[in-house]
Amino acid sequence: MDTYYIDGKFVSEHASFISVKDIIVLRGFGVFDFLITYAKRPFHLEEHVERLEKSAQQIGLQIGLTHEEICAIVRETVARNPHHRESAIRILYSGGISSDGLNPEGRGILMVLVTQKPESAPHLYTEGAKVITVDAARFMPSAKSTCYLSAVLATQAAKRQGAVEALYVDRDCRILEGATTNFFCFIGERLITPCQDVLSGVTRSVITELARKLYEVEDRDVYLSEVGQMQEAFITASNKEVMPVVRIDAQQIAKGCVGERVKNIMKAFRNYTDSFGQGKARLRLPGSAVGAGHRKEMANLP
Ligand SMILES: Cc1ncc(COP(=O)(O)O)c(C=O)c1O
Repeated sequence: MDTYYIDGKFVSEHASFISVKDIIVLRGFGVFDFLITYAKRPFHLEEHVERLEKSAQQIGLQIGLTHEEICAIVRETVARNPHHRESAIRILYSGGISSDGLNPEGRGILMVLVTQKPESAPHLYTEGAKVITVDAARFMPSAKSTCYLSAVLATQAAKRQGAVEALYVDRDCRILEGATTNFFCFIGERLITPCQDVLSGVTRSVITELARKLYEVEDRDVYLSEVGQMQEAFITASNKEVMPVVRIDAQQIAKGCVGERVKNIMKAFRNYTDSFGQGKARLRLPGSAVGAGHRKEMANLP
């Protein structure tokens, strides 16, 4: 049985309750973050907590705990679940009680849910995955709010069509990101990834840093009309890591198999997560305050 942290207490998963009057239940008003462990170390925990704090700030939610307190609670919750080979960690902060369902009245609550890390099917990494596109874009895309209606609908649509992910395409026909992933593609010599109107994925930041050592990386809008020019593509997320994409809707990417450059990036990511798990490497990610003051474990890549 898993142990969760709910509003100041460590409790078993079956005894974890929150009020139905919390606006996170009534309206999906809250923020969350998701990460996994490598060798039981939460991967870039500080950046995930930093993103949670930024998400809260963006929706006007005040978190009543410090950055260090949240990190310590997450580490303690992981330690209280030693039966997991690796863990998946959900950190949530609710809007708090709301009698009218619109105005939060008081403090929100912190929840940390630690479960066994799920594994994606290995063939998706060797043969590549199919994704679909959906006409949608997230409201406040840089915030990871618990209001994930578009993601739930998009993911169900993907599943119905035998795809692993749905890419949001906005009214300007830009491919933005997946329902729960960021998107990358190779066009010519360059690795391109959309950076506007997307969630700043922690995996995306790590991949961008690693890939810069191998290829020219460009942050720019990517259009649906460019799919035919893509030679390789992949999606990234904490749980999916680097997943090659070989088909977008009915269009096959190049020869429809996993390309050499994506394989190199997958290998670089695996080497990095192995080193991270051993406590040997930790990248300084751009745009993060982590490392400026409160990061303890800092080392350069080997
Ligand atoms: C909309 C969206 N984009 C991208 C990501 C990937 O983010 P990360 O790499 O930090 O897991 C997620 C993760 O859930 C997401 O929900």
